[in-house]
Amino acid sequence: MLDPFYITTPIYYVNARPHLGHAYTTTVADVAFRFHGMQGRQCFFLTGTDEHGDKIVEAAEREKMSPRSYVDMISAEFRRLWPELNIHPSDFIRTTEQRHIAVVQQVLQKIYDAGDIYFSEYEGLYCFGCERFYTERELVDGKCPDHEKAPERIREANYFFKMSRYQDWLIDHIEKHPDFIRPERYRNEVLAFLREPLEDLCISRPKTRLRWGITLPFDEEYVTYVWFDALLNYVSALGYPDGERYTTFWPHAQHLIAKDILKPHGIYWPTMLRAAGIPVYQHLNVHGYWNVDQSKMSKSLGNVIEPLELKNIYGLDAFRFFLMRDMTFGLDSSFSEEALVERINADLANDLGNLFSRVLAMAHRYFKGRVPEVDPDLEPKLRFGLKDEALQAIDDFERQMEGFGFNTALAAVWKFIGQMNRYVDYSMPWELAKNEASARQLAAVIYNLLEGLRVVSGLIYPVMPDTAARMQQHLGLDAGEPFYLLERLRAWGGLPAGTPLPKAVALFPRIDTRKKEKPQPPPESAGLRDLKEEISIETFGRVDLRVATVLHAEPVPRADRLIRLEVDCGERRTIVAGIAKHYDPADLVGRQVIIVANLKPAKLMGVLSQGMLLAASRGKSLALLTPDREMKPGTPIR
Ligand code: MSP
Repeated sequence: MLDPFYITTPIYYVNARPHLGHAYTTTVADVAFRFHGMQGRQCFFLTGTDEHGDKIVEAAEREKMSPRSYVDMISAEFRRLWPELNIHPSDFIRTTEQRHIAVVQQVLQKIYDAGDIYFSEYEGLYCFGCERFYTERELVDGKCPDHEKAPERIREANYFFKMSRYQDWLIDHIEKHPDFIRPERYRNEVLAFLREPLEDLCISRPKTRLRWGITLPFDEEYVTYVWFDALLNYVSALGYPDGERYTTFWPHAQHLIAKDILKPHGIYWPTMLRAAGIPVYQHLNVHGYWNVDQSKMSKSLGNVIEPLELKNIYGLDAFRFFLMRDMTFGLDSSFSEEALVERINADLANDLGNLFSRVLAMAHRYFKGRVPEVDPDLEPKLRFGLKDEALQAIDDFERQMEGFGFNTALAAVWKFIGQMNRYVDYSMPWELAKNEASARQLAAVIYNLLEGLRVVSGLIYPVMPDTAARMQQHLGLDAGEPFYLLERLRAWGGLPAGTPLPKAVALFPRIDTRKKEKPQPPPESAGLRDLKEEISIETFGRVDLRVATVLHAEPVPRADRLIRLEVDCGERRTIVAGIAKHYDPADLVGRQVIIVANLKPAKLMGVLSQGMLLAASRGKSLALLTPDREMKPGTPIR
């Protein structure tokens, strides 16, 4: 039996409405939760709201509401948002709930009784935005680095937690458990911080200054500092100290946060746990920040569209996919509508969507919409099996997902999708279908492709649960079954022959970025005409293909088809191309193209051409090949 899995998000402050940043972290938690479910683990997923402290009181005052009704209102907004994003936490904790307050008071009392909380007069630099004291060396130019305001000097008698006592223990723990805080850059950040002496933590606020908080169990005149209160949500929600959930899940706790709250989670929280005699969490997973590129967001009625709104325009699964695929966990990323649309068109509409509709269309055309039966003797002899690639993709996906490598896990799935697309091209089912003698081979090819799609439907489930379910339905799989269990995905041959397949649908319609594009015929109907003789990979390797940037373009006089191009392909070259009927020279400047760089130079209409451009062409249509993102001129094509 695999260990249970417990994942938490930060509990969000209710002084702001939910936005992209909150949505990202909670989506990551949902993806991790679903993924661990695929492994067959018992899982628990916690999120909630952080509702005490002066920031909240100020926000309530701004809205002319009492803190109580204000926190009820915003907390409900968070709670309502999650199902809209297809996120289903196991529990939602609010720090104003009695179950939480009781645990905070119990833990405070325990630490106080153990002698790790003391009372002292303190004068220090306090940032009201952060609700904490700052030391001189933490300030940047004398200002709080987050709020860019000079903190105020205040003098107060308060309670302090002896955090400094646990400094050596914490350093030792982090050193002995290299993946306690991950990725490594954040572990290093915490260790760097711990190189300086740790100060004790002020954990109270006098009620004369703040009433909206949890009263200290040992002094009626004080409330608890909001971080000391909030962090304990991770155990209070489980029913600490003796709830069943606590016993089952706490030993496997993994927290998920962004880099902004690394210090409370990497330093306060483990030392608090240690002082309270509670085992520390297993992993702190820290991600970077999404920066929203406003110039690349569409506007409606003069208002900039909120990033979260884009899920309603482009579809929730595509939105979730983009968040997981475009951020390298741990690093910052920039969010833009353009990047989202590019991802949808390339990865979803093109790679996955086309494959899915091609394969199902062929199953309908050649096998009357049923899963074909495969001759068991033929299968092992097939030249192009997909089983090994599928098993490799599942292994890579699992390893990456376990380490929170979402973008690389998805890249592994898309590598397999690419292999399937090539499998269609090489095995040419439309040719096999022409000949009765290859009927058994055709059945095997289509069966392999359907099986491959079954694996893909399972692997995309944590990120795109709705699309996975649609694929499942179109592959004729039982809707009641958890088709996405890794164990099932690994059992190649899971699709029963004869299963009826509903007609294919477009999973992700392409988003038209240039309005007047002509619809293209579906690729599988084109067939492969004019196929040339077979060549070896070595022969192909002798062709030197390179990325080139067009520096200059002009028509060749007296030749109505030719354009003379100056390109940078690592060096400057002249190339003459027969594309004048399809492209205006001015439109070509600045574009990247693919050239054959080792073609023997030839003179065309008196101009020496030192290479050739690659283009797709049939009849009257022609399209230049370009890399799908900007590459350095001269980059080889492999
Ligand atoms: N209430 C505290 C957390 C207490 S946990 C015991 C808090 N709340 S918050 O509402 O400010 O949420 C901060 C978290 O929101 C970040 O750690 C991150 O998870 C998420 N994000 C907020 N903005 C973000 C981005 N721009 N990008 C990515 N995530 C961000 O801190």
